[in-house]
Amino acid sequence: MSMGWITMEISVESIGDIKGTLVLPFNKGEEGIDSAALSGLGDGLVGQLTKLFADKDVTGKAGERLTLHSPDGKAMLWGLGKSDERTVDSCRSSGAKFFAGLKKRHGKSLTVRPVGWSGEELAAFAEGMILRDYKYDRYKSKNDDDEDDDDSPVHVTIQCADEHIDSLSASATRSAEIASGVFRARDLANAPPNDLYPMAYADLAVEWASDKDSVKVTIIDYDEAIKLGMGGLVGVGMGSARKPCMVIFEMNGEVEGEAPVIVGKGITFDTGGISIKPSASMDEMKFDMHGSATVFGLMQALDATGHSGRVTGISCMAENMPDAAALRPGDVITTLSGKTVEILNTDAEGRLVLSDGLWMAADYNPSYIIDLATLTGAIVIALGHEATGMWSNDDDLGNALVAAGDDCGELVWPMPLTPAFEKEMKDSKIADLRNLGTTRWGGSNTAAAYLKNFVQSRGEGDDKKQIPWAHLDIAGTAWGAKSNVLVADGGTGIHVRTLHHMITEGL
Ligand code: BES
Ligand code: MN
Ligand code: ZN
Repeated sequence: MSMGWITMEISVESIGDIKGTLVLPFNKGEEGIDSAALSGLGDGLVGQLTKLFADKDVTGKAGERLTLHSPDGKAMLWGLGKSDERTVDSCRSSGAKFFAGLKKRHGKSLTVRPVGWSGEELAAFAEGMILRDYKYDRYKSKNDDDEDDDDSPVHVTIQCADEHIDSLSASATRSAEIASGVFRARDLANAPPNDLYPMAYADLAVEWASDKDSVKVTIIDYDEAIKLGMGGLVGVGMGSARKPCMVIFEMNGEVEGEAPVIVGKGITFDTGGISIKPSASMDEMKFDMHGSATVFGLMQALDATGHSGRVTGISCMAENMPDAAALRPGDVITTLSGKTVEILNTDAEGRLVLSDGLWMAADYNPSYIIDLATLTGAIVIALGHEATGMWSNDDDLGNALVAAGDDCGELVWPMPLTPAFEKEMKDSKIADLRNLGTTRWGGSNTAAAYLKNFVQSRGEGDDKKQIPWAHLDIAGTAWGAKSNVLVADGGTGIHVRTLHHMITEGL
């Protein structure tokens, strides 16, 4: 399986020759196009434009598009809505929508002239285009006779004020590097579960790292996981013919000092196990490994941008199947931590594999631990598809994640981590913990409270303190967000950019 590709080509230059179709963004209420943006346009098209504005046949409302044809070229008028509503976020979305709306008639070459935009707005526009330029079609048969089935790249030339040229070319290159990580995460998420099972993920990670001096990948396979006492990972995965494993990415492992550790839930398919799920939409449970997809994508993005700091990724891979060998409700498992867990519902499996991954994270001298998991349906009830739920034992870390998410347009929303939820998860007659709340209320909060038991503490006596940790429940944001214009459908690659931003900016 080849992974991740960038097809779009972006050039940045000052206003000059028009290459292909000229794209003219304009705002609501504008009475014409800035003359600078019309430079080099043939008289025929200028005449049409003047007439359109004189007759008020275009308004500039968001999403309005009009393609003009003349013997001397083509131009596309593109409405952006009110100019005072332009923000970095709206420009990122505009870039994505622009790319999504390109039709065959616009050709493979376009020149865009956004006049009066700030450097950051231009960068976000380019980023939006790049992020939308993704499709997952490797399982579709190719039809060589079909002219629309054309994978050749679109070339976009952004012509802007001279002062922005250098920074915009640099940021577009960086956006493309980071996007390679987002696309890897999407590829992994979209992959069908018969091909992407735990050891297939491990093989891809090993193959990816094989030509990289700065990354070491270690696989803890099923037999080793049993030996080490990873009762959570083993318990969830033992009912599948595709056995579980833990995949550990160490980037720049020789760099000393504390460094981030990112842990991902990687359930390559979640049937629910013996507590089997209803069949409606069960196919979507192929996305239940998006936490691990984000871990892999983050590593790719960090490598592509030449990150020199140490970062560790831990993916907890298993397939949750009902089987003669599967975990049962009523079973008690012993996790890597030594803590025992009474299984009351085998569909609450993500927290079980994370129990071992979070415990393991402490071995990598973490500055902080962040886990990502498509953990609960309840977070989709609470936040819809608009934001990721976030729980943290450390306000600085939580605030940094919220800020990083805001900067990237990937919202991270604080949720409560309170003693009552923690107490609820300890309410087992026969084990240290239970894997299910005592009621269904606040199901995402009880899940987070359960996870907190597996974050180790450091220091002695009064200095003893739990390692800073945050849990991200991405069940609503990993796929299915119709309002996320950065992706057409399928896995979103959520939080590759947030975490890359946070780690590289040292937030
Ligand atoms: N992977 C699911 C969570 C999920 C459900 C994500 C729907 C996205 C959409 C998780 O393993 C699960 O099944 N959680 C249960 C927990 C319950 C049994 C406590 C849930 O949310 O119903
Ligand atoms: Mn489940
Ligand atoms: Zn699950």
